[in-house]
Amino acid sequence: MEKEKWWKKSVVYQIYPRSFCDSNGDGIGDINGIRSKLWYLGELGVDVLWLSPVYPSPNADNGYDISDYYGVSPEYGTMEDMEAFIHECKNRGIKIMMDLVVNHTSDEHPWFMEAKKSKDNPYRDYYIWRKGEAGSPPNQMESCFGGSAWEYSEETGEYYLHFYHKKQPDLNWENEAMRKEIWKMMNYWIGMGVGGFRMDVIDVIGKVPDQEIKENGPKLHEYLQEMNRETFGGKGLVTVGECWGADVEDGILYSAPERKELDMIFQFEQMQADQAPGKRKWDLKPLALKQLKQAFAKWQEALEGKGWNSLFWNSHDLPRIVSRWGNDKEYRVESAKMLATTLHGMKGTPYIYQGEEIGMTNYPFSGIGDFADIESVNMYHERKQMGCREEEIMESLCAKARDNARTPMQWDSSHAAGFTEGTPWYKVNPNFTEINAKKALEDKNSIFYYYKKLISLRKEEPVLAHGRFHLLCPEDERVFAYTREQDGRKWLVVCNFYREPAGFAYAAKGKVILSNYKQEPVMQMEGMELRPYEAMICEVIEAKEEQKP
Ligand code: NOJ
Repeated sequence: MEKEKWWKKSVVYQIYPRSFCDSNGDGIGDINGIRSKLWYLGELGVDVLWLSPVYPSPNADNGYDISDYYGVSPEYGTMEDMEAFIHECKNRGIKIMMDLVVNHTSDEHPWFMEAKKSKDNPYRDYYIWRKGEAGSPPNQMESCFGGSAWEYSEETGEYYLHFYHKKQPDLNWENEAMRKEIWKMMNYWIGMGVGGFRMDVIDVIGKVPDQEIKENGPKLHEYLQEMNRETFGGKGLVTVGECWGADVEDGILYSAPERKELDMIFQFEQMQADQAPGKRKWDLKPLALKQLKQAFAKWQEALEGKGWNSLFWNSHDLPRIVSRWGNDKEYRVESAKMLATTLHGMKGTPYIYQGEEIGMTNYPFSGIGDFADIESVNMYHERKQMGCREEEIMESLCAKARDNARTPMQWDSSHAAGFTEGTPWYKVNPNFTEINAKKALEDKNSIFYYYKKLISLRKEEPVLAHGRFHLLCPEDERVFAYTREQDGRKWLVVCNFYREPAGFAYAAKGKVILSNYKQEPVMQMEGMELRPYEAMICEVIEAKEEQKP
């Protein structure tokens, strides 16, 4: 059963269209730009593309504020371009996973424009309205981008709810007519030939604002089952739910096949290993490797045979992993490959974010004027007002700002890294002459080809797609090691997370499948000393008694 699902052997590549490739010189990436790079994605070997939103949008949150679910923003092209893109992907065996942003719309969506006009407007109840309490918001709920989650609307003297920007009013999922509109829209895109949906902050659609319940509301799973029935169920698509507030029990509810909801969950527990406990992402602490290992192991074990997880380090919401937990200076290549090994050795569906496969790094920001993202700009002003020091705020922003991931893709060493012939909408990382796709393709030892190998291994080796995970040396503060086992075969994945050498012992011989340093084909694994950021995948052979598979 488990083996039947095609996406269990797939690797998803996320495209942030604005920054991927510009075909018409306006400085903004577009659909024809993506089409022109399909050969590159084919070379890498990915078979699903998650397309961040390309719908018409006022861009308060770079497309995550949609004003028309049925269209394509003129910035990105036309519907004909989109059709051609879907068609070409189909010919290449690549599926398109559309971003489904249905927790909220733009405030410029016709539904909201109607809804705000009057209390008896037919669209009023598509959104969430409340009276204020003596001139202030109905309650203390906060927006993820800072400030109150309630915005006063002059026309009717009531507040509407927005968990994100005030230009992103939350939809009211209690309203059946609204839900039907969403099903209709999803079926439209299915009819267009898309291969799946990535569901933006889907864990909050069941909110109960009056009880201040945000994630995992009581009707959430009912809505998802209805969605499955009314739209993609039984059609062989792939669906993934973005959930910031999920624990393993929730993960099973979302992704257990018999519950007929989603195929997999996209949760962030592992990404909190460098965040001060109980604080926000901006509150930094050094990476705690033990915590990271525990987070991964917990999900690997809990979902075994029950549900399915996504594996990722990066997205358009996260800083670049090689800068975050690798070494983006002298060990950039080694550490990028090490991080890839750690992640792609596990069970789940891996996601690669554009540029990760060539080891793109964080941007060297020098002041608040360098940031474009609303989240960062709001955080800066909020913390300034609270009296935080400029250097401290900048340190957090440099480490965690989403803009780190949103700089243009580095294609070659020509003007604007080959991203556009015009002026790019956002800064190009000055290291593009060194780090770019053209160079990576010319070097058989590049990060790119290492990712390519990992992607093909997942397709070819059932032990990688389906083998059972077991964490080794959980107390070790420097080495992340685990095994994968299936049908009498056992693979060992060993990764040194630091620049200092580290010891590791396993009483067996290993046949090297992949590694980021030169190795003998067969290794004795007792008392190994791992070099800086060294990583390997080995098939365990000749295990001593106590460590036989
Ligand atoms: C999650 C998206 O990934 C992020 O970019 C966006 O700001 C919020 N959801 C709101 O849509």
